[in-house]
Amino acid sequence: MSKLKIGVLISGRGSNLQALIDACAAPDFPAEIALVLSNKADAFGLERASTAGIATAVVSHRDYPGDKPAFEAAMDVRLREAGVELVCLAGFMRLLSPWFVGRWQDALINIHPSLLPSFKGLDTHERALATGVRFHGCTVHHVRPAMDDGPIIAQAAVPVLPGDDAHRLADRVLEAEHKLYPHAVRLIAEGRARVDGDLVRIDGPVPELATVLNPPL
Ligand code: GAR
Repeated sequence: MSKLKIGVLISGRGSNLQALIDACAAPDFPAEIALVLSNKADAFGLERASTAGIATAVVSHRDYPGDKPAFEAAMDVRLREAGVELVCLAGFMRLLSPWFVGRWQDALINIHPSLLPSFKGLDTHERALATGVRFHGCTVHHVRPAMDDGPIIAQAAVPVLPGDDAHRLADRVLEAEHKLYPHAVRLIAEGRARVDGDLVRIDGPVPELATVLNPPL
């Protein structure tokens, strides 16, 4: 079985990266990580990648002051050199230009800590609590030039519970993220998630994630 080569872009602790590393370690997982690329040299995720024996690269936006095209071109070169076929943003905290997004059209996905299209941007857990929603969650979606926008591949909902603060809620969402991201990558790698205009159509049944997140009583 030939595996889909993914590149994971990070800026920080890389817990979603770790979830992808762990998923890829299973022999039957249809994707492998060809490169972990960080825009920050001190991102803990780089250590996670090295520990797992995965190639890493640092392309710092600070080395390209005021020159986003050069920063993105440098990232693009690294990803192409590594043979990456699908780019996964995992806590990568730079907004990508329409050039980069277009270059990786339908091969660039992101995980966001809310049920999009609600709560785009930062501080999603605080805003969910302030709004009084009863369910919150996370979304994996194809990236489009607008922030946290694009066809939705997969979502997971978690309850907002009495007494939650932003940290407790963030932990609950993060646990769901770690299941959702490998699930979404699997759907793409198996060719089961097809972009159709503004939507993603899923071929075949997808009961497994619902079962993982809501185990039968
Ligand atoms: C995750 O919660 C991810 O959803 C979020 O940053 C965190 C990264 O954590 N991403 C965004 O907010 C992007 N808009 P991690 O480094 O431990 O994976």
